[in-house]
Amino acid sequence: MKILVLNGPNLNLLGLREPAIYGTQNYAALEAFIRQSADELNCEVDIRQSNHEGVLVDWIQEAYGKFDGIVINPAAYTHTSVAILDALKAVALPAVEVHLSDVDAREPFRHLSYAGMACQKTFKGLGFEGYRASLRYLTSVN
Ligand code: DQA
Repeated sequence: MKILVLNGPNLNLLGLREPAIYGTQNYAALEAFIRQSADELNCEVDIRQSNHEGVLVDWIQEAYGKFDGIVINPAAYTHTSVAILDALKAVALPAVEVHLSDVDAREPFRHLSYAGMACQKTFKGLGFEGYRASLRYLTSVN
């Protein structure tokens, strides 16, 4: 099974960025964690990060016919992007939403997720573990 893992804006600054919320490990550590999780689950991952909404939309569109599922942390675009929602609906690949922090326990504007409306499941507040849970979900359910 081939899974596209997409990370949105500012996740490249993990470690530096609000460590009390997002932890002290950097983005390279997150990638390494995802790769190790994929190895354990016998699936293939392509991990990408962009600060640009349109790039994320392009990658979702290009996933059609090439990947069996998508794990996405749209970061701030979670709460604003109808374009990412529409792209996920367009390709209709099994998708899982992941957030490092518990968005529901934070500011009210983080409680709404557009991307989540096109996802089979959401993992939030589990830190890096949420990515492993997302991969496990996609490999077991689909
Ligand atoms: C986030 C939560 C979002 O609200 C925030 O804008 C992010 C990261 C998370 O992983 O907890 O950038 O998606």
